[in-house]
Amino acid sequence: MATVPIAEVKGNTRENRTAAHSHIKGLGLTHDGRALQSGAGGFIGQAAAREACGLVVDLVKAKKMSGRAVLLAGGPGTGKTALALAVSQELGTKVPFCPIVGSEIYSAEVKKTEALMENFRRAIGLRVKETKEVYEGEVTELTPEEAENPLGGYGRTISHLLITLKSAKGTKKLRLDPSIYEAIQKERVRLGDVIYIEANTGAVKRVGRSDAYATEFDLEAEEYVPIPKGDVHKKKEIVQDVTLHDLDVANARPQGGQDIMSMMGQLMKPKKTEITEKLRLEINKVVNKYIDQGVADLVPGVLFIDEVHMLDLEAFTFLNRALESPLSPLVILASNRGLTRIRGGSSLPASAHGIPPDLLARLLIVPTHPYNSSEITSIIKTRAKTEGLNVSEPALNKVSGLGEKISLRYALQLLAPASVLAKVGGREGGRIEVGDVEECEGLFLDAKTSAKGLGMTEGFIM
Ligand SMILES: Nc1ncnc2c1ncn2[C@@H]1O[C@H](COP(=O)(O)OP(=O)(O)OP(=O)(O)O)[C@@H](O)[C@H]1O
Ligand SMILES: [Mg+2]
Repeated sequence: MATVPIAEVKGNTRENRTAAHSHIKGLGLTHDGRALQSGAGGFIGQAAAREACGLVVDLVKAKKMSGRAVLLAGGPGTGKTALALAVSQELGTKVPFCPIVGSEIYSAEVKKTEALMENFRRAIGLRVKETKEVYEGEVTELTPEEAENPLGGYGRTISHLLITLKSAKGTKKLRLDPSIYEAIQKERVRLGDVIYIEANTGAVKRVGRSDAYATEFDLEAEEYVPIPKGDVHKKKEIVQDVTLHDLDVANARPQGGQDIMSMMGQLMKPKKTEITEKLRLEINKVVNKYIDQGVADLVPGVLFIDEVHMLDLEAFTFLNRALESPLSPLVILASNRGLTRIRGGSSLPASAHGIPPDLLARLLIVPTHPYNSSEITSIIKTRAKTEGLNVSEPALNKVSGLGEKISLRYALQLLAPASVLAKVGGREGGRIEVGDVEECEGLFLDAKTSAKGLGMTEGFIM
């Protein structure tokens, strides 16, 4: 499988980490695409940009947006990164969303166009439907058969694995190769689990716990599934989501079978080999064949390039070309620059957002605007709530004032240290008061004040 399994853990009392955008849960739109005023989805204000992003989401879902590019343009702290994140949340987990920052493509090991291409292909998904011969059922017996170690000594090895699977129509006892035993251990299969074993590859997949056990006392989060219908040995349609990049990586080391699923079986092997242009063309051919045969569906997703002015002229040219390829995702760019010289193009005149005019001409531009004072207050309130902070009304006004006078980011960043001061100062319930905010203001400079201070000395910090 293409995904790294991450166990879902519930009932954990540890506090969640809050990142800069933890309060953003979506675009907060009504079903007909209008922006809700109430701060739904954690988003406040910026209504037009949210509605535009909502349209983009609809078009991506209808697969009508591939090969196009959108630019989110606006001042620092006007919610561009937050908007992109909300778009990814609205798209759900089935549509690939690949976020990168412009500067990520520069590395000593990989060419920048290669890095860009890789991310392009991460943003295009393929939903593969395959009918496979499987053994599926609830595990009612799981006995490894031991044998003397053929190499002598006292160790014992597993010679076979006896497993009994039960389905609605009957049970079947299987005698399996020890290599499958490893796969079973890896999936942590135990009695009462519903699993399937692919007949020709021996791949084991745990579907969940049989719902006959649903009442047992269990601290772990479990997914309960009914006992499979039909016979144990049957044909089953298996749907898997992979990205083109997954296929590239899996095939950089050609071995194993010819079908897509066994290409995927090799995914988790660590060694990285180079993915050549030729290999990608081969993969595209295979993918197109599968699409024509109706075995697979293309799911074009979104590539988000934040701080796009960090790309250079070569990367922009490459972007132009890549957007024209038939297998292209929607590309969302974000920049807070106005007229800026393009990186790597010092002989060229400054260009809007640091993007070459020929690319600019292809973009749909979504502007984001600075917030007014009531929006700033609401954003700070939402943020304080997400961080679990208690802020008194006057302190909130004070922080909002700073948000207006200095910047939203600065105001948001003062919240956490102010709460520490409030706790140290023994305020009732850790409530942040005006004094705490003022003290923080004295402790931490904002960017402009700092720059002004530095401007007065030359070279050194005095
Ligand atoms: N409309 C909004 N509603 C709620 N939170 C917001 C909104 N706009 C911005 N924020 C929050 O304000 C902070 C700054 O926003 P964000 O990082 O998205 O700005 P940006 O436009 O990407 O800025 P930059 O150009 O500096 O990258 C983030 O914590 C973000 O979650
Ligand atoms: Mg940003």
